[in-house]
Amino acid sequence: MQTIFKGKHFITLQDWTKGEIDTLLEVSFDLKKKFAMGIPTPYLLYKTIFLMFFEQSTRTRNSMEAGIAHLGGHGTFLDTSTMQISHGEEVKDTAVILSRYGHSIACRNCFWEVGNKYLREMAKWSTAPILNLQCDLYHPMQGIADLMTMKEKIGDLKGTKVSIIWAYATSHKKPISVPLTQVLLFPRYGMEVTLAYPKGYDLPDWAIKQAKENAEKHGGTLTITHDIEEAYRGADIVIPKNWGSWVTNQKGEVVDALLESCKTWKCTEKMMKLANKDVMYMHALPADREKEVENSVIDGPHSIVYDEAENRLHTAKAVMTLTMGSK
Ligand code: CP
Repeated sequence: MQTIFKGKHFITLQDWTKGEIDTLLEVSFDLKKKFAMGIPTPYLLYKTIFLMFFEQSTRTRNSMEAGIAHLGGHGTFLDTSTMQISHGEEVKDTAVILSRYGHSIACRNCFWEVGNKYLREMAKWSTAPILNLQCDLYHPMQGIADLMTMKEKIGDLKGTKVSIIWAYATSHKKPISVPLTQVLLFPRYGMEVTLAYPKGYDLPDWAIKQAKENAEKHGGTLTITHDIEEAYRGADIVIPKNWGSWVTNQKGEVVDALLESCKTWKCTEKMMKLANKDVMYMHALPADREKEVENSVIDGPHSIVYDEAENRLHTAKAVMTLTMGSK
């Protein structure tokens, strides 16, 4: 069956076949190489993408804005608090109109039990592809950049032991979308995935079920533990990162008794010593330094966080090139 990328929504990688994700990776590597060589990539000449943000961003906003410029197009940054959305304008009206003006609408909306529904509703009405810049459930832009970074460092990922580990943080009640995306995606590449968190920080049951199905289909594994040391022991890659207790407690408060009882869930040099000697430390960023992770780890020899963040640019460009410009 012919794969048509043009117009394809990018809301979750679960909606993309493994073959489509492989193509996305190939295009990402090609764009990275061309960027390094200074070869122009005018694949989206005169095309427009609208970048709607309900929340703050550093990497996502700037990888998209820089990316569309490198591709010869234009990105319009939209702080949704300055749009008529803030006066109650309906999703349908926003999606229909912006899609008539341009070639894609990208959106970050992380409000719990709102964000993904908002994107799906936009997809229903938009005549242009909808790109998810992070919602309450998924962060596919981060997931594909993480996968690219792992492939770059390791090559064939089959059998790679990767641990997605909850970590203590107080900056804000972070979405579950990064670990949820990773736990679904990594088993599709045959990885041995461990998901570790203190009780109360569960991911949704349906997501775990889908992740297990992905593992079974693609020869990966998924193990869940509440033992932090078990997660670090023998790992090739560790991804210690905070997420909020959204599934068990929908209140927006950042600091509560459960969080404060989990301060020991920190990525320390001591924990890193339990892992393989060449273990790699990853984090989507921003990190709560000295809470989620010791500075000596995130700034140390095992950390690949800046390569991971750089790959947000190359993968964002690949997503736009394929969904906005291809056949
Ligand atoms: N990782 C990530 O999405 O970063 P920003 O929140 O800065 O976009």
